[in-house]
Amino acid sequence: MWISQLDLVGWRNHHRSSLLFQQGVNVLIGPNGQGKTNVVEAVRFLAHLSSHRVSGSAALIGDGSDQATIYGTFAHGTRDVSVGITLKRNGTNEATVSGNSAKLAEVPRWVSAVMFAPEDSSLVRGEPGFRRQFLDDLVVATSPAMAGVYADFDKVLRQRNSLLKSLRTASRTADTSTLEVWNASFVALAADIVYHRMASWGYVARHISDAYEKLASGQLITASYQAKGFDADLGMTRAELENQLAQAILEVSSAERDRGLTLVGPQRDDIDLFIDGRPARTHASQGETWSLALSLRLGVAAWLRQERSSGDPIIILDDVFAELDAHRRARLVSVVSDYEQLLVTSAVEEDLPAELTGVSFDVSQGQVTRR
Ligand SMILES: Nc1ncnc2c1ncn2[C@@H]1O[C@H](COP(=O)(O)OP(=O)(O)O)[C@@H](O)[C@H]1O
Ligand SMILES: [Mg+2]
Repeated sequence: MWISQLDLVGWRNHHRSSLLFQQGVNVLIGPNGQGKTNVVEAVRFLAHLSSHRVSGSAALIGDGSDQATIYGTFAHGTRDVSVGITLKRNGTNEATVSGNSAKLAEVPRWVSAVMFAPEDSSLVRGEPGFRRQFLDDLVVATSPAMAGVYADFDKVLRQRNSLLKSLRTASRTADTSTLEVWNASFVALAADIVYHRMASWGYVARHISDAYEKLASGQLITASYQAKGFDADLGMTRAELENQLAQAILEVSSAERDRGLTLVGPQRDDIDLFIDGRPARTHASQGETWSLALSLRLGVAAWLRQERSSGDPIIILDDVFAELDAHRRARLVSVVSDYEQLLVTSAVEEDLPAELTGVSFDVSQGQVTRR
């Protein structure tokens, strides 16, 4: 798919911006802090209902506005679909699909986009939380209904942790029946999440190693889902995972009461990434880190392209060329150039590979002008 028109009202520093994009390459140019990322963040928001930079919507609504609207028209083959989202500082957010009011969660069905950003090196070098977020985005893209499971899980985890904290100071003989009730929902939701993460990982893993091969041939990538404190592997059913989790939670029950914290479950899991058998997080060079981070995104893009009937995902390259050497720039361009549409941002034109020619926009102080 590709986005033909984007309108932003009260979004970040865009008081009112309107962009007419083309199929193929679209480039946003402007010094730092002018509002380039804010534009592509809006497209990403329509695809994921979340920002890659902040959680919640307060920071997304322009200073001095009480609401932010993103309106986009997407071409899926010969069919156009328009979607809109309004985030409000107070009150309920609103959405439209083809002019009719819709649930917010309906919007991502019509928008698929994969964003590459400077923060992506954290997928390889950063805390496990970055890799969990990567998987969870993938899970929700595959099974939109899982968004509700994540919300329930977060709630149960919070409740369970605060209960464990209060039991920490209580006597050993204190009543734990409430904890047992939480345990049952915790284990069911946790197993659902782990099951879906492993399934999603199973879909994209091959695409990720294929992408790495294209970017940096000659090295072998291996990766596996690491369940912390319980056994999980790709072949397990949800019921088997639930059993493993239930058993693990019994085993750690006294440690959990001592620490006042939930010690097993998806909130602690990770993906272990290896390059030629060495753990990437601690051993990868700067170049290898980037090749792997790009491959994770490219793998998702390749998989979405194969799975979604609406065509290719929109490829967003936000300020990534500045991070890459000439060789990786060229390889990246050759892999993404046949996607239906690229949205590229850069502070300086010189960082952009020559092959990336298309429509250009200047971005300055939240104003966008087509060249
Ligand atoms: N909610 C907001 N309201 C107004 N301005 C904002 C808001 N959020 C961010 N900004 C401004 O947007 C600018 C950063 O935009 P960004 O798109 O990240 O820049 P870049 O062009 O470097 O990608 C900063 O000047 C920041 O102050
Ligand atoms: Mg930026």
